[in-house]
Amino acid sequence: MRIIVAITGASGAPVAERLLEVLKKGKHQIYLIISKNGEAIVRAEADLAKVKSYADRVFREDELEAPISSGSFPIDAMVVVPCSMKTLAEIANGVEENLIVRAALVSLKQRRKLVLVPRETPLAEPYIVNMLKATRAGAVVLLPVLTFYHSPRTVQDLIDFIVGRVLEILGIEHNLYKRWGNEGFSEGA
Ligand SMILES: Cc1cc2nc3c(=O)[nH]c(=O)nc-3n(C[C@H](O)[C@H](O)[C@H](O)COP(=O)(O)O)c2cc1C
Repeated sequence: MRIIVAITGASGAPVAERLLEVLKKGKHQIYLIISKNGEAIVRAEADLAKVKSYADRVFREDELEAPISSGSFPIDAMVVVPCSMKTLAEIANGVEENLIVRAALVSLKQRRKLVLVPRETPLAEPYIVNMLKATRAGAVVLLPVLTFYHSPRTVQDLIDFIVGRVLEILGIEHNLYKRWGNEGFSEGA
């Protein structure tokens, strides 16, 4: 698959890093966009060089002339992980200020899969309204919530659960966590 992954300035860079690692292992083509604020948070929470190394192409948020700005460029799906409340608001309200929001709105207009992984808590009313608007526009809002039915032992297990959920929306098979009702726990992609 050809997948756009966008990282914005919310906490959660390790989730993006793991998603990129798994997509790379699966030989998917990855177009990575990192916002200015996202880059600062990746530096604090993960390894920026490693994150970039998984991508086939890396774009800055101001590279609006990038091929992925156009609906004619073949892309199968886009994931914004983590998705800040600011980027969520721009996507939900159609404010195309940078390449991330442009590519997300192109995904919606082309009826492609768009997964948003917002990270904020507690939620102010405008955040909830924007999640509703984004959902109504066709995006999947996937909250990186804590889950315990897969018997996580490490933070990595919790991250893998979220990454697995994203992959399920993209239609990509994985073995990142024990599904409800299945025996055994399998690690790795
Ligand atoms: C250390 C730090 C952590 C932040 N964490 C979050 C967060 O978890 N969720 C969020 O919505 N915004 C968070 N913000 C605020 C965003 O970075 C800010 O709204 C920014 O303008 C987002 O821009 P972007 O979406 O273009 O990356 C954080 C900011 C800083 C400095």
